[in-house]
Amino acid sequence: MNVKDLYINYFVKKGHTQIPSAPIVPENDPSVLFNTAGMQPLIPYLMGEPHPSGKRLCDYQKCLRLTDLEEVGDTTHHTFFEMLGNWSLGDYFKKESITYSFEFLTSVLKIPVERLAVSVFAGTDRVPKDTESASIWESLGLPKERIAFLGMDDNFWAAGETGPCGSDTEIFYWRSNENVPVEFDPEDDRWVEIWNNVFMEFNRDENGNITNLPKKNVDTGMGYERIVSVIEGVNDNYNSSIWKDVIAVIEKISKLPYQGNEKSMRIIADHIRTSVFISSDPAGIKPSNTDQGYILRRLIRRAIRHAKKLNIDINSNWEEQIAKQIIAKYEDYYTEIKENKNIALTVLKEEKIKFGRTLEKGLKEFEKIAQRNENIDGTTAFHLYDTYGFPIELTIELATERKLQVDEKGFQEKMKEHQEKSRTASVGKFKGGLAGNSEIETKYHTATHLLNAALKEVIGHDTHQRGSNITEERMRFDFNCDHKLTDEEKQKTEDLVNQWIKDSLEVTKESMNKQEALEKGAEAMFIEKYPDIVNVYSIGNISKEICGGPHVKNTSELGHFKIKKEEASSAGVRRIKAVLE
Ligand code: ALA
Repeated sequence: MNVKDLYINYFVKKGHTQIPSAPIVPENDPSVLFNTAGMQPLIPYLMGEPHPSGKRLCDYQKCLRLTDLEEVGDTTHHTFFEMLGNWSLGDYFKKESITYSFEFLTSVLKIPVERLAVSVFAGTDRVPKDTESASIWESLGLPKERIAFLGMDDNFWAAGETGPCGSDTEIFYWRSNENVPVEFDPEDDRWVEIWNNVFMEFNRDENGNITNLPKKNVDTGMGYERIVSVIEGVNDNYNSSIWKDVIAVIEKISKLPYQGNEKSMRIIADHIRTSVFISSDPAGIKPSNTDQGYILRRLIRRAIRHAKKLNIDINSNWEEQIAKQIIAKYEDYYTEIKENKNIALTVLKEEKIKFGRTLEKGLKEFEKIAQRNENIDGTTAFHLYDTYGFPIELTIELATERKLQVDEKGFQEKMKEHQEKSRTASVGKFKGGLAGNSEIETKYHTATHLLNAALKEVIGHDTHQRGSNITEERMRFDFNCDHKLTDEEKQKTEDLVNQWIKDSLEVTKESMNKQEALEKGAEAMFIEKYPDIVNVYSIGNISKEICGGPHVKNTSELGHFKIKKEEASSAGVRRIKAVLE
């Protein structure tokens, strides 16, 4: 049985409810581009809000970390990965959490205890030394020598500068053919971390102050790629069952062996997989020059460049063959992969065609530049970007291979000048952080429901939400519609929303069974993505939607609604940008 299934079965037996993986692009959260940990979609519940599925949860969550992007190509780094997680929301704490992890590893996965070691928190002025966890580990049979006490940098976990956090205990596995040392040395990288159990009992505010959360929670995360490679006894993740067949497809297409071509093959495998997951996400991301779309573009273009390095014929359907192998592996676990596979394949193909047109010429141009054997200035890097579609990171990678440097700052300045000229939005939000819902964002959430309801009145009842994004400045709403809205339709939509704001409609929340919610006519964008018990928000009797919130209490709080822009988003999908004034 697959480790994912073993994991879920084990924790369900221990009273946990399996929740579906949240989309990889956080819904209505502009502070992060992608989910970076299993707990990210659960932040409101770790902060104290009751979760509709109860106090014990488990899942496998799609995650994407951009911090590791440049590292991809070695044996262990990936951009996309799956995180196995189990949570206690104010239910069990250290004893059960550690016991479950120990039992799962040693009894279910049959990992010998002799190959395990752990670290626990050494303590600070504010948070005491975690002798409790250490004693629990000892009682389970872990010798003292295999328990290391480490400080804030190693054994205190938080997803961002602010929000829920706490000390943790990390579990390590001896991944080497050499004899297991008696004593655990955390500096020895043959000890690889496989699981992190965070005891989330604190909240950190903007000033760095730590206060107690209303409840003591447990948040755990185990990297799926890592645990599979451990169980299968491979030192290169790409030799595990997750990747082997994908690498074999790349070997076949390129007619080259993996050995000697590892770096390019790993990059292609990793980046195509991540691109499949981003482009099949409900958010409907397409390659672009900003935000998630830029990351998608960068990944596909980097994969194409490495395919070219392996002498793969770019114009063949190489990317489709690789993507199909990947899709087959995941479609039983993620419905969006099954449902949107054609979208993903089209995205890859279209971007390949687009970049394929300029790549050859761009590489020639780069060669000419590199011949000068001088560092590459900002204007030249911008020229490669603007004329040949080379993301700056690709130029840097090419330059690094030639031992040249790129003036990245100069490039950014050129880029800024260009953006100011063409007034396009700026790129920027590349760092992780925590979800924040300010007052204005909360208002936009409610306005989104009103707009959704108004469009149904004006365009027709088969108009549904296809995507939504909220920032402090505006709301963006995608919906299916086969035509450009007329001025009259826009005016009517705007008037209806403003009428409902004026009507001071009450916004109410109820938790109910997903089936019941559907029977009651609640609107849901992607019903299979929701847990069995859901929150339904109603606004007067004009709107009923399954939604995570947050929302205002009454529509009178919203102010004046104004449509700023109506445009095409993709085939059959229109996009409205609107503001509350
Ligand atoms: N949230 C913890 C992590 O990502 C479990 O390591």
